[in-house]
Amino acid sequence: MLSYFLPPRIEFGDGTIQNLGEHVKAFDGKKPLLVSDTGVINAGILAKAIEALDAVGLAHATYSDIEPNPTDTSITDGVEVYKAEACDVVIAVGGGSVMDAAKAIRLLITHEPPLEPYYADVGGIERIRGDMPPLICVPTTAGTGSEVSQGAIITDTSLRTTDRWRKRAIVTPFNMANIALLDPGITLGMPSALTAATGMDAITHGIEAYVATKYHPIAEGVALQALRMLSANIQRVYHNGEDVTARGEMLLGSCMAAFSFQKGLGAVHSLAHQLSTDAPIPHGVANAILLPPVMEFNFSHASEKYAEVARALGIDTTDMDSDAAGNAAIDKIRAFNVELSMPAGLGAAGLDRRKIPKLGADAMLDHCHKFNPRECKEADMIALFEEAF
Ligand SMILES: [Fe+2]
Repeated sequence: MLSYFLPPRIEFGDGTIQNLGEHVKAFDGKKPLLVSDTGVINAGILAKAIEALDAVGLAHATYSDIEPNPTDTSITDGVEVYKAEACDVVIAVGGGSVMDAAKAIRLLITHEPPLEPYYADVGGIERIRGDMPPLICVPTTAGTGSEVSQGAIITDTSLRTTDRWRKRAIVTPFNMANIALLDPGITLGMPSALTAATGMDAITHGIEAYVATKYHPIAEGVALQALRMLSANIQRVYHNGEDVTARGEMLLGSCMAAFSFQKGLGAVHSLAHQLSTDAPIPHGVANAILLPPVMEFNFSHASEKYAEVARALGIDTTDMDSDAAGNAAIDKIRAFNVELSMPAGLGAAGLDRRKIPKLGADAMLDHCHKFNPRECKEADMIALFEEAF
């Protein structure tokens, strides 16, 4: 038996952030907690959210101490603000780190702290109920799609000294936002390097989800359409960040790609998850570099699906057999990496080669490769890191 989850209400379009207050009121909310970070504040985006709440006479509280790769301690601080300010709705305005933090804060409003029993690796999904306050997500990057994903990735500071399992996941269908406000207008100012990295993260989600082994035809269909939209627009937004139409396609495409990865991800994510805290290489950059070698590794088990990926990436495969088409998909990813000025390898991105054996062992502990089309052993993980180096 399988169970599928459809996305929440999605409101899409330039200016949708202006409707934020109305959505809070629709939940009978009186005082939302706005969760964000310094980057969002400096970009002037939090001010737009506050403006939208002021416009309908709503009070609010803010909590902005969310660091990249949010920690359990920043979550408990956020819960205290929510309770002290007597809030009743959680609004996340930010990228993946902010949205994941908001999900965890919201969890601890109705679930007894600490986070420990709710992590996926200790069977937390069984302990999470759906009685949490409403969550509205306003993504400010087009990449993680955390607004429609079931996961929240938290850095567990209690495990910092062991140098293992530092990043842990809270996974539940209740983690999906109640409403996702996708406003391409607020992503216009995103710097080109961040645009490229987050966009390649979204493309990796689409490809890994499409070839993941779980049976999920709904997600497969969505993944392919997401890839069509992302691949047709990633170069446009990289070269012209003010193109609001292309920004919109990227934002919706990344949301769709994240919805599709409820089907599963793959080895790229298991490897990349080891690099954002230890290396540190941004998640999207790690994915972009690791994707071609992993596709080559998987090729014997997924060539026909990669041929379908090639067509979704806009390649004319009319005169190609399935192997040639699948290889063309890998070439296209390499071409994107060059055009988007990604580092030539993990070494160029800052990885210390001596760490590879340990990182390879840690990658085996990550849950994502469970659905990879080809089984991965520790030696494979190490070889893939070496290949991507
Ligand atoms: Fe990702």
